[in-house]
Amino acid sequence: MSEEKCKRVYITTPIYYVNDVPHIGHAYTTIIADTLARYSRLAGMDVFFLTGTDEHGQKIEQAAKARGKSPKEYADEISARFKSLWDEFEISYDKFIRTTDEEHVKGVQKAFEVMYENGDIYKDLYRGHYCVSCETFFTEQQLVDDEFCPECGRSTSIVEEESYFFRLSKYQDRLLEWYDSRPDRILPKSKRNEVINFVKNGLDDLSITRTSFDWGIKLPEKIGDPKHVMYVWLDALMNYVTALGYGTDEKLMHYWPAKVHLIGKDILRFHAIYWPAFLMSLGLELPHHVAAHGWWTRNGEKMSKSKGNVVDPKEIADAYGLENFRYFMLREVPFGQDGDFSQRALIDRINSDLGNDLGNLLNRIIGMSGKYFDFRVESDGVATHHGEELKEAEAIFGSVEPYLYEIQTNRYLEDLWKTLRIANKAIDTGMPWVKMKEGKEEEAMATIALVANILAKVSVLLHPFMPKTTQTIAKALGFTIDHESYLRLVREGALLERFTIEKVPPLFPRIEEPLVETPAEKAAKEEAKKPKKAEPKKGDAEDESGANLITIDQFFQVSLKVGTVVEAEEVPKSKKLLKLQVDLGEAKPRQIVAGIKEWYAPADLVGTQVCVVANLKQAKLMGMVSEGMILAAKDDEGLALIRPEKPKKAGTPIG
Ligand code: MSP
Repeated sequence: MSEEKCKRVYITTPIYYVNDVPHIGHAYTTIIADTLARYSRLAGMDVFFLTGTDEHGQKIEQAAKARGKSPKEYADEISARFKSLWDEFEISYDKFIRTTDEEHVKGVQKAFEVMYENGDIYKDLYRGHYCVSCETFFTEQQLVDDEFCPECGRSTSIVEEESYFFRLSKYQDRLLEWYDSRPDRILPKSKRNEVINFVKNGLDDLSITRTSFDWGIKLPEKIGDPKHVMYVWLDALMNYVTALGYGTDEKLMHYWPAKVHLIGKDILRFHAIYWPAFLMSLGLELPHHVAAHGWWTRNGEKMSKSKGNVVDPKEIADAYGLENFRYFMLREVPFGQDGDFSQRALIDRINSDLGNDLGNLLNRIIGMSGKYFDFRVESDGVATHHGEELKEAEAIFGSVEPYLYEIQTNRYLEDLWKTLRIANKAIDTGMPWVKMKEGKEEEAMATIALVANILAKVSVLLHPFMPKTTQTIAKALGFTIDHESYLRLVREGALLERFTIEKVPPLFPRIEEPLVETPAEKAAKEEAKKPKKAEPKKGDAEDESGANLITIDQFFQVSLKVGTVVEAEEVPKSKKLLKLQVDLGEAKPRQIVAGIKEWYAPADLVGTQVCVVANLKQAKLMGMVSEGMILAAKDDEGLALIRPEKPKKAGTPIG
């Protein structure tokens, strides 16, 4: 997408649910949006950058209740945490919207009226499977094992209620035309087909009101149906225009349509299907692009509160430096793909890309210019002595911008780093220290000036990613990064002609070891802090049979039996589970669902024996009943099942 044609640039992040505190995923979207906004401002665009919080819906109502708070109290508290984190991160948003803002509420009601009046909303009865956590209805076919949410795996419930519907089906063809109108409506382009196929499969009308809870925007009074509140996604999506005053004071509406809605891949359907359809119904223009990024995992695992492995962006930024963290996120993952967060990967990027490539280059220039030229640099000889290198670097500087507008920040940065390599190579081959000895001062100066100019241009183009660090680099090179220097150095390809270099402290001190304790380390520390249980004293029978030991009777309360695996199969959509039928000498085999798929193939299990805890209460895993547990031992090298040394009759007690 080229930003040239459009001098106004409206950029949005999703508005974040207030049922959770900010984590790395939220920081990622916000930092991409911030970088884009900063770049657009540097390039002279009139930018409006929106972020905020999504505060209505059953999920929030429930989260507040669980904490003994009113939904508004709770929303105020969490919304403030998002806002203060973005402020601390110096996110350059122009507006922070909350869906509890009065103007937003009025704007959404206005939109409902408009859609209602033009015949796009009707009342009917809704029956469907609802996932409270995702605030989404699913059809029976979409459910996993007839009950579970295909998005988050949680149990869904059947909801039957009177509801207003939006005629989404009516917009199917126009949506398809819209996707066709440009190949990059949906970014990355690989996601485009996913959306198109979904729409081609047919769109059902969308239930857009609820009567089963209260925490939402009421329908407009005109409709006269006070039982209903609006579906949270209708409410939330509208934020992109109510923030500009839609339905109230429309003075910022000239920013519409959005240049890009930045979102995560999980909410693409809402943004690429529902949202444009709502806009068509309202007679508003459609956004230029919807760009969906992938998910962050931690050390290869999905992040979740229950695992305690959620990356706290503030903790990481505090330890490693906010701008280093920004660089890492925007460099590490190709847009649209999932990325893994590990402190090792972050440390490598800081030491290698930032320290070795960028920081050292600056140090070399500071050192040589000081030693040979009293820090005074002139660029007159660059074209003569380093014309080729300059041309090569300029070609890159002139061609990186589109990557940014395609949100390919990793490729943008990779290309900038190519110019650092050109600069490093120019020093290694130009060898200014040799030239100085040979009395070829002009050549030595030309090499230093080439490198300083490459560094200057890199710092301008890197400024949206690392605003403060790059100003420090610019200061060292005797200039300031602003729109004017952007035009001169990047657009016009001019050189800093005569300038004095200033010493700056090293920008990227080397980091050897992870600076933040991992969740496992934290847990171990907590454990160590707990008071130790008294060590049993010698000869003290009471203590020997003390608190952490069990009696033989207690042991025999556990019924352990030998079982023979008679059937084994994989559980579809599960990475971990196998479903086994285990003969325990009873009328029929027991079904046992076990997390051993990573280590055992079903075919290798059939006919073998296992040890089973036979008197465990039944449990349900992914909707399947499990009637026991098999014993296994797991260490760093993997998992091994515990088996009788010689075959035993199925059902033989173990004791
Ligand atoms: N409130 C809705 C958005 C409404 S926009 C009109 C919502 N909120 S959210 O807080 O649950 O998620 C916000 C964003 O965070 C989504 O874009 C989601 O993809 C992103 N992430 C949540 N967890 C994530 C990771 N682990 N990694 C990357 N981003 C992820 O959805």
